[in-house]
Amino acid sequence: MRLFADSIAQALAAQTGRPAAEFRIELPRDPALGDLAFPCFQLAKQLGKAPPALAAELAGAWKLEGITAQATGPFLNFRIDRQVLAERVVRTIEGEGVSYGCSREGAGQTVVIDYSSPNIAKPMHVGHLRSTIIGAALVRLHEQLGYRVVGINHIGDWGSQFGGLVVAIRRRGKQIDETNPVHGLLELYQWSKQQVESDPAFAAEAREAWRELESGREGEVRELWRHVTKVSLAGFEKTYRRLGIRHDLVRGESWYENMLQATFERVEKAGVVELSQGALVVTLGGVEKSLKETPCLLRQSDGTTLYATRDLAALFSRWEEFGFARALYVVGGEQKLHFRQLKGVLKRMSLDWEPRVEHIDFGLLLGPGRTKLASRKGAVLVLDDLLDEVVEEALRVVQEKNPEGANLAEIAEQVGIGAIVFNDLKRERIKDVLFDKQEILSFEGDTGPYLQYTHARLASILRKAEAASEGRAAPDWNGLGEAGGVLIALARYPDVVRSAAKNCEPSEVSQYLIQLAHELNNWYVGSRVLGQEPGITAARLALVRVSKSVIGNGLRVLGMAAPEQM
Ligand code: ARG
Repeated sequence: MRLFADSIAQALAAQTGRPAAEFRIELPRDPALGDLAFPCFQLAKQLGKAPPALAAELAGAWKLEGITAQATGPFLNFRIDRQVLAERVVRTIEGEGVSYGCSREGAGQTVVIDYSSPNIAKPMHVGHLRSTIIGAALVRLHEQLGYRVVGINHIGDWGSQFGGLVVAIRRRGKQIDETNPVHGLLELYQWSKQQVESDPAFAAEAREAWRELESGREGEVRELWRHVTKVSLAGFEKTYRRLGIRHDLVRGESWYENMLQATFERVEKAGVVELSQGALVVTLGGVEKSLKETPCLLRQSDGTTLYATRDLAALFSRWEEFGFARALYVVGGEQKLHFRQLKGVLKRMSLDWEPRVEHIDFGLLLGPGRTKLASRKGAVLVLDDLLDEVVEEALRVVQEKNPEGANLAEIAEQVGIGAIVFNDLKRERIKDVLFDKQEILSFEGDTGPYLQYTHARLASILRKAEAASEGRAAPDWNGLGEAGGVLIALARYPDVVRSAAKNCEPSEVSQYLIQLAHELNNWYVGSRVLGQEPGITAARLALVRVSKSVIGNGLRVLGMAAPEQM
């Protein structure tokens, strides 16, 4: 609503001789009271007046073309003339098109977003799906605000499990089914894990291979590790492509290997490390009581390093390289302690940029009845299989709806992926997500397909108008007399994008889109678009056009396609 809130704040500023920034214009609790409101409490206090008296005084002196003001208790409520509302909102969105919702407020600042970050050789499982979907939405949201965004895939490509994998390849050969690398590697990984547990000779050889890998020497072991990494990444890429995702940097944990020494020195120099039974630790009780029993362990007594060591090195390197305004880690809630420890170390080092580091955690993705999601065969669920399964079902659904339709396979992919993405982003991220194939693909209810269908339906009205050469007249904004709810919702979109980015909460966009779609669906029940008085039809078509544009923008920000036809 900045479109109107700014002019209201300016008018109040002119009226009172105070700076416009003092007038925070809000949405009224009850839309029946007005379109916007100014709560008078703070200003009244400063002026030594009673809030209702101030509200009445401001209302008495109010004068702004197209907007009326009324005092209701301590609130000054504003109502925008429907014609003014219609024309301003429609013209603004028509003018800005795909940039409607964008701003430059983040220009010159960098946001680093660590997301997806699966582990090599293990499958990218459903837990990574949420990180991928939420992270990619946060990338787009920040881009809309003009930030430079650096999306990083911090893949787990380091650790003792690679010793086992190397030995497994020695025993069984290097052939991993290249057409299906994720499954091939998963099988190999599981086999090596089992061998390590049951065969002491295998385990010893695996340990030796891991030591060799960590030594940094070139040779057979490093070669095999590279091979596994490459094959695995290619498998992940396929999934990313389907989700329309591209990281700016793929830097696995191994990337930071040669920075570990400098990291130790840096922490040591800050005087915050202790040796505890040969291990290098940073105690954290002093900066956060609840971390008293859980110091951050940086180096084990045998000299090996840990996930936290590499994450700390990565964080320093990111700070130096990007001087970020925000560093977001989109990682599940089960790593809460890990990120509190990382931030704890920064606090102990008195680094003033510590608050810029944020753990963006989220709930679980669960199957029907809150069960763990499993594949059809009951094994670990591989992400790509999940996508296939839903797209397959989506094809059935769209075929049933429209047996003669063209491009059904393409639409099914858009609907299937859209359904998964929307289901994931629909509620606050911290809540668990229930995954029920039938439910998320339903065209009724607050689902991805419902929103995509709303978009396609608007597109279809526009095609019909085009075919009938309707909508060429000058718009008569009286034709949008019933569209107040839609117009207000449309005007709010830029605020929603901004707030969703700030709170790292893509669900604000999802909930907004649902509300906009409801408003639209209510509106066209009572207002026919085509075949009216030419000026009325023109105004209503303009509303259809800009509504389609905003829904399209919103869907794309979330990572969903906006089909023209379904
Ligand atoms: N690879 C880790 C996992 O799957 C997630 C990494 C998240 N990013 C980070 N910088 N720690 O659990």
